[in-house]
Amino acid sequence: MRALEEKAAAAYTEKFGDPPDTVASAPGRINLIGEHTDYNGGFVLPCAIDRRVAVAVGRSGNELYSADFGETRSLTEKDSSWADYPRAVVWAMGEAGHRTEPFRAAFAGNVPLGSGLSSSAAIEAATALALDSLFGLGLKRKELAVICQKAENGFVGVNSGIMDQYASLLCEAGAALLVDCRSLEAEPVPLDLESAGLTLLVCDTRVERGLADTGYNQRREECERAAKTLGVGELRDARDEDLDRLSGVEEKRARHVVSENVRVLDAVDALREEDFERFGRLMYASHASLRDGYEVSIPELDTFVALAEEAGAPGARLTGAGFGGCAIALFRTGETGALCRKIETVFADRGFNKPDFYEFVPVAGAEVAR
Ligand code: GLA
Repeated sequence: MRALEEKAAAAYTEKFGDPPDTVASAPGRINLIGEHTDYNGGFVLPCAIDRRVAVAVGRSGNELYSADFGETRSLTEKDSSWADYPRAVVWAMGEAGHRTEPFRAAFAGNVPLGSGLSSSAAIEAATALALDSLFGLGLKRKELAVICQKAENGFVGVNSGIMDQYASLLCEAGAALLVDCRSLEAEPVPLDLESAGLTLLVCDTRVERGLADTGYNQRREECERAAKTLGVGELRDARDEDLDRLSGVEEKRARHVVSENVRVLDAVDALREEDFERFGRLMYASHASLRDGYEVSIPELDTFVALAEEAGAPGARLTGAGFGGCAIALFRTGETGALCRKIETVFADRGFNKPDFYEFVPVAGAEVAR
């Protein structure tokens, strides 16, 4: 077991007196390209990162324990805390007709919280996989992902798409995951940064974004209105030449979505050809479209992307919903230190929060550890 899984198991034993029956864990994610496309029936290209949430579960009881927060909560009452995510999964499993019995769980995690690295999808995916194993439900990964999305939408109350849950449950090591968010087909796309001498640098601006509090749901509504005006079910079906029939924010949002879907498929081609220059140009184009058309960037994210470009990064962009959170850059391995220092200095000069930096490798999705 990984250290984090050991931690969850030990916390379970210490808290509840017996060892757990099952231990599972699930990773957070970054999205390489394909932003705000998932809920428009489009394409995304995330990869799972080596930061996870682990959960140890056992039959009987109804308590949820967080080793990180040192607190116990009931399995049943909604209270707008971290515990709503496992509760939500139990609820969504019930909605999908899968019976779970009383259980206890202990959690331990190291996905940064509120940074847009999908700590919430990780806790949902880890819980769903652990319960599937504990109660012998025999659900497929895709089914678990759909249950986790339903948990987030119907119980937690965030109208997110399917990307984060898919990434956390279906990614393969050393690869990104191309997801067609309409058909829910997914396929791994090799992401061999190492042999290209590149590193995936992540900058957490430490500007927190609670999805429920942001313009996320508003963007969704704008997209739905644009699709309605065009007479298509989802913006996935809008063609470039149709967009002249739109105006105002509807046109801006739709232009982003339509162009971003094209960029994702181009990016997949570029990765398959190991053409990171082309891949990187698509990342910059995605960022510009998110900044100017979708209007979900903030000065911190724009500053990171501009400084990365100035320093010669092949590509950089905000990742996740925007409004704060993280940006990513492809950068020459071994040379990220100087770039990070430069960014820290400029952020300090501009009065921004001190950013955190990570270098991630693409890992496999959720696993049952025991
Ligand atoms: C959040 C949501 C995802 C997706 C992204 C934007 O991460 O949870 O479903 O919509 O924003 O691409």
